[in-house]
Parts: sequence; structure tokens; C-alpha cells
Amino acid sequence: MLFASIAAVSLAAGCVGALEPMGPNQGDDDQGDDDQPAPGTPDAGTPPVGSAARAMFEADVASAMAQCGSAGCHGGTGNSPLKFYPTDLTQLYTTVTSYDDRMVGYFDKTTAPMLKRVSPGPHYTATYTADQVTKISAWLDLEKTERATGNPPPTGTPSPGQISKQLISEWSGCMTLADWDADGVAVAFADMGTNQGPCVQCHNTGQASFIASRDSTLMFNTVSGNKYFMIAFFTPNVTDVANAKMEVNKSLYERVGTGVYPYNEHPRFNVNNQAFTKLQSFYTKTMAKKAAGTCGTPKIPAN
Ligand code: HEC
Repeated sequence: MLFASIAAVSLAAGCVGALEPMGPNQGDDDQGDDDQPAPGTPDAGTPPVGSAARAMFEADVASAMAQCGSAGCHGGTGNSPLKFYPTDLTQLYTTVTSYDDRMVGYFDKTTAPMLKRVSPGPHYTATYTADQVTKISAWLDLEKTERATGNPPPTGTPSPGQISKQLISEWSGCMTLADWDADGVAVAFADMGTNQGPCVQCHNTGQASFIASRDSTLMFNTVSGNKYFMIAFFTPNVTDVANAKMEVNKSLYERVGTGVYPYNEHPRFNVNNQAFTKLQSFYTKTMAKKAAGTCGTPKIPAN
């Protein structure tokens, strides 16, 4: 049963992602791209306020998403699960659409996580009515059409989704194998125990977008080179955009380890152990590189 759900959880892993702020040198992430998204970004950007798709979102979709926005879920502050429901609801449209892969799936209604994770539901307490599914699908279709016919590229302040991508990209260049090895992160995670055996037993090859391998180099390359594997360890917190930064995604493990939905069937484990101490040590070293401006070339592109 557990294994049967691996693929589905992998696809759904975006929900555990988080946003992040930029730390003390906020707004100066050494990449010179703070003020505008990189050219050619797949972020389709924000259509003019008057666009028909945006109007459709506000009329037909926003109300269906109100159920997502409690502080323990996708509203409030923090880094996990993905905080796409802003306090200022005039920002809902731009925030949701800025997560081009993790929310709207490039406006493909057959894959868009905001639709597929909730319908068929329930997803936690959330469900869409048939009418809401129809409306969200129609909106995604219209966005796709509008954007295909040439909307202006993103301008102005970067969106939460864009900041998240920049932070993840930058972080991928700040992490070093030398620090990872020195802290022994890989073995500590591989050997962390549960009531059904150590993590490595099931996550050795990255099941459910979480890798725990005793092969330190393999695990490092996976975590530093792939966004979805990275966010299981380090995830952006962009709920305070001015202070967006990467954070240790400890809350994911607190949920998984205690069997919080949708991890009800997951083996139980305690997060207060040396693996998280090592991960935190590695995080501190990585953050220091960022602060010192000594990060390497990003392995994960920003777009
Ligand atoms: C007996 C097999 C098994 C063991 C042991 C196991 N897991 Fe899992 N894990 C799974 C399965 C199956 C899933 C996907 C389904 C689910 O979430 O329950 C999963 C999902 C996860 C996820 C969710 C990833 C995501 O982004 O949704 C995390 C994180 C995770 N495991 C961490 C751990 C950690 C940490 C350990 C060791 C302390 C561990 N697992 C031990 C089987 C296992």
C-alpha cells in the first residue's frame, strides 16, 4: 500500500515546498537578478490587470481557494507547505500564478497541482465542487490561450514564485560537497530510524522526492542538483518577501514523522536527532558562503 502511493506523492511533492527570504544581504543575492526575472523565464508573468483571464480568476476561482488559506495550511507565515495564499488578497492572483510549476502547472488543467491535488479530494479539509472544477479548468484554459498569444514579460517586483526560484538556484551553487561530507549529513539521514526500519531502506533511490543514501556524493548531487529533492531539505520562505531566504525544511519531517495527512501511513520517527543537528550545521555553513559572496555557479537554473 505504501509503495503504491509513491508515484502520486512524488507528483504532489510541490505542496511541501516553501518559500524563502534572502537573509542579511537581502536583495543582493550575488546574481544581479534581484530586480527582474532572468530573460527567457518560463514564468509567464502577470497579464495586465484588465486581462480577461485575470478577471475570470477573480470572479470564478478566488472564492474556491479561500478554503486553502488558513495559517496552518497555505496562508500565514513560514516555509511549508507552500504559502501561496497571501494576507493581502489583491496579491492572490499574482502569487498563485507566479508558481508556474508548483501551482498552475504552466496552465495545463490536466496537471495543474492546484486542481489535481484537490480534485478528486478531499485534500485535508479542502474539496472543490463540480462547478468549481469546471470554473478552474476554464480559467486555466483561458490563461493558456492568453499567454500563448503574447502577454508582456514580467516586470517590476519579482513575484514570490520568482524569488523562490532564484533562491533555490543560488543555494544550489552555495552548497558544497566538502561541507556535506564534513557534517556527515548523508549517513545520518540514511541511518535515521523509524518504527519500520531506517530511511535508507525505502528512500535509497529517492522515492517520493526524498533521498536518503549512505553514498554521500550521490545524495549531495541529487539534493543540490534537483529542485524537488532540494526542497525536502532546504526550502524558500518568501512569506516576508523583503526577508526571503532559504530555510531548513524541518516542518516537513515533523509532519511526515508524526503521520500528519497525507503521510498517515508513513513510518513514525522523531526529528530531534543528530541528523537534523548535522543538517543545521551544513545549512549554517552554506548560509555563510552566501553571506560572504563565495557561492559557486548554480547547478539549478533560476527558470
Ligand atoms: C518502510 C518504508 C519507509 C521508510 C523506512 C521511510 N519512508 Fe519516508 N516515505 C515512504 C513512502 C512510501 C512515502 C510516500 C508515501 C507517504 O508519504 O507516506 C514516503 C514519503 C516520505 C517523505 C515525503 C516527501 C514529500 O515531499 O512528500 C519524506 C520527507 C520522508 N518519507 C522521509 C522519511 C524519513 C526522514 C525516513 C527515515 C527517518 C523515512 N522517510 C523512512 C516510505 C518510507
